[in-house]
Amino acid sequence: MQPTWHILGPGAIGSLFACHLQRAGFPVVLIGRKASPSPTSILLQEGDHTQSFCFECDDGQRPITHLLITVKAHQTDAALRPLKHRLGADSLIVLMQNGMGAWETVQQYCPETVCLLATTTEGANRPAPGQVIHGGSGTTYVGALAPDLQACAHQLCAQWSGLGLNLQEDQAILRQLWQKLAINCAINPLTVMYDCPNGALLSNAEALATMEKVCKEVETVMTHALREPAADLFELAKTVATRTGHNRSSMLQDVTCGRETEIDYITGFLLREAKRFNLNCPQNQALYDQIKR
Ligand SMILES: NC(=O)c1ccc[n+]([C@@H]2O[C@H](COP(=O)([O-])OP(=O)(O)OC[C@H]3O[C@@H](n4cnc5c(N)ncnc54)[C@H](OP(=O)(O)O)[C@@H]3O)[C@@H](O)[C@H]2O)c1
Repeated sequence: MQPTWHILGPGAIGSLFACHLQRAGFPVVLIGRKASPSPTSILLQEGDHTQSFCFECDDGQRPITHLLITVKAHQTDAALRPLKHRLGADSLIVLMQNGMGAWETVQQYCPETVCLLATTTEGANRPAPGQVIHGGSGTTYVGALAPDLQACAHQLCAQWSGLGLNLQEDQAILRQLWQKLAINCAINPLTVMYDCPNGALLSNAEALATMEKVCKEVETVMTHALREPAADLFELAKTVATRTGHNRSSMLQDVTCGRETEIDYITGFLLREAKRFNLNCPQNQALYDQIKR
């Protein structure tokens, strides 16, 4: 029998995975906010194809064996706290979100569970409750923080191989997460400062100069954290800004809608790591302060 997957945070990415898991034969239960209960049905649009999925409501009682967390990083604490008594040594948690550091919350509330990390370049948006558009295909990388849990990441990739999404086991998931963090540090706060789509940063000399300084600082911290030389992050950030030129970053969307941003788990995480290694990141600190303001 297929295990039941609980999805904590049935937003754009959570709903996308919920639909694909159910289509692949897994029972799926959505867990939303108490104040705004999760939808019981989702209409998934992928290209010209639209399909409707119905989901079971969470009964709030049953032990949870498989949990996919897709709330935003800063929402992890409030979302996970009420579930901690339902998670134990037999539970598997997959943390799939932008930013780094929310695994500390998982370790705090569920120290016995196996926690895997995932990062995705799938693109999804939720124009209305119960409606999700899979706007762009990408790759989802899955790995473990601790080397002894790598076998669990391998098993998960095998279990999810029929999802119809591009999945990759990554034995160096931390490097993958750091690279995504670097791109987020380089692009997201600047799109807020200049109130522009990603690509517009490339034709703005002032923004580009700041982006280069941001990337140099991230490279230094990343080299200390991973104990290996970092890639040329400025080139990487420019490539991503070109490829996603028309996109408005998630941070810009959050600020525009008056929502809290993920800055504490993006630039904030970088600054905490910099402090651990006695490094200064004045450019990132300035952007962090401006976004917080
Ligand atoms: N969307 C993408 O294309 C994409 C791509 C790559 C990575 N990501 C990352 O994936 C993560 C999720 O992004 P998203 O776009 O899916 O965000 P989202 O649509 O806002 O989804 C977050 C979901 O979590 C729910 N939630 C918030 N607090 C909760 C709580 N206490 N308990 C239960 N549920 C709670 C939200 O409910 P409400 O609706 O009530 O707020 C919402 O359904 C983020 O870290 C994002 O950066 C997104």
